Amino acid sequence: MGSVGAGAATLALRPLYSRNYLFGAPPLPGTDNFVHLNLNESPYGPSPKALKMIRDAVSLSGRYYYDLAFGGLAGELTDHHELDGDFVVTGAGCTEILKLCDDLFLGPKLQLVVAEPTYDAVIQYAVNSKAEAVKVPLTKDYRHDLAKMADAVTPQTGMVYICNPNNPTGTIVTKDEMDRFMNRIPESVTVVVDEAYSHFAGSGYESAVKYVKQGRNIVVAKTFSKAYGLAGMRVGYALSNEDLIAKMRPFTVDYAISALSAYAASAALTDSQHIERSVRLIAEQRQALYAELKKAKFEYIPSDSNFVMINVGRPVGDVIDEFYKRKILVGREFPSMPNFMRLTIGNADEMKKFFVAFREIFKV
Ligand SMILES: Cc1ncc(COP(=O)(O)O)c(C=O)c1O
Repeated sequence: MGSVGAGAATLALRPLYSRNYLFGAPPLPGTDNFVHLNLNESPYGPSPKALKMIRDAVSLSGRYYYDLAFGGLAGELTDHHELDGDFVVTGAGCTEILKLCDDLFLGPKLQLVVAEPTYDAVIQYAVNSKAEAVKVPLTKDYRHDLAKMADAVTPQTGMVYICNPNNPTGTIVTKDEMDRFMNRIPESVTVVVDEAYSHFAGSGYESAVKYVKQGRNIVVAKTFSKAYGLAGMRVGYALSNEDLIAKMRPFTVDYAISALSAYAASAALTDSQHIERSVRLIAEQRQALYAELKKAKFEYIPSDSNFVMINVGRPVGDVIDEFYKRKILVGREFPSMPNFMRLTIGNADEMKKFFVAFREIFKV
């Protein structure tokens, strides 16, 4: 093999993992052989159908792909959610959707109403837009306090963000709570519901897509990064009413999704078995984690997602470092929940390694 080939092979084989990349911490070197339980990815990765499609689509990547990005994939997503019309905007992950919502709905003197803690990229983009984030603490059982969030709405409110299930707590807003909230909230206020983890939610949960169908002033943000196992491909989308979709589209980045990513997402949509299997295996490992935590008498927040918040009884920073020393990456610190560690549910092998380290660190 020539040097170019050898170089390419080396590049192709090197995993590109990093820790806390999003929030300004420098990527830690040398985490290739670590167990990655920090970023809420699926340990089961993409559907084999998506992987095959990515390989097959490589030869098409020399051209732009207008039809696929704006017609094909959006049309498939419309059908997938049983919508009928122009209800979808795609983006480079749910992140692009959240950013464009902040760009469109916020600005100087406007307010974003959010829970604390919640997925905070949306807060960073609001700050970039010179808007103010009004943070409403979670309830005592770590759930969105929708009554207080509705109370926090004023004529300055540009957008309310609800993360359902919530990152980092894994808790849900129930169907009834959401109905009550939507009945209370003025139609002039845009509600953005982030359903990145919806596949993992159990009973009591209902997607907010039903409000899109009712023509409400709502944006539902979705992603292929979690249950679909395609985080590295960067595909997300928004579902909303046709007026809002028309307003959102100019705020998207043209061709933000690569051709390979669009094809991968398209194939992933056709493999519901892969999703069911990934969700089932993650639920099994989540139960195993609960059993271990109960045995060790650790408090945890029951989760409707692929991660669990564990009360480690002391500031989590040192605990994160202890796991790091044992080649295990766990979630970052959340300042309003200083003693909690967010743990992404891995596969059986990864969880076994986690349990060994957990028993060692906490001497249980
Ligand atoms: C609640 C929530 N929304 C959005 C995202 C970003 O997803 P994406 O990879 O689609 O940009 C994440 C990623 O962790 C998340 O936790």
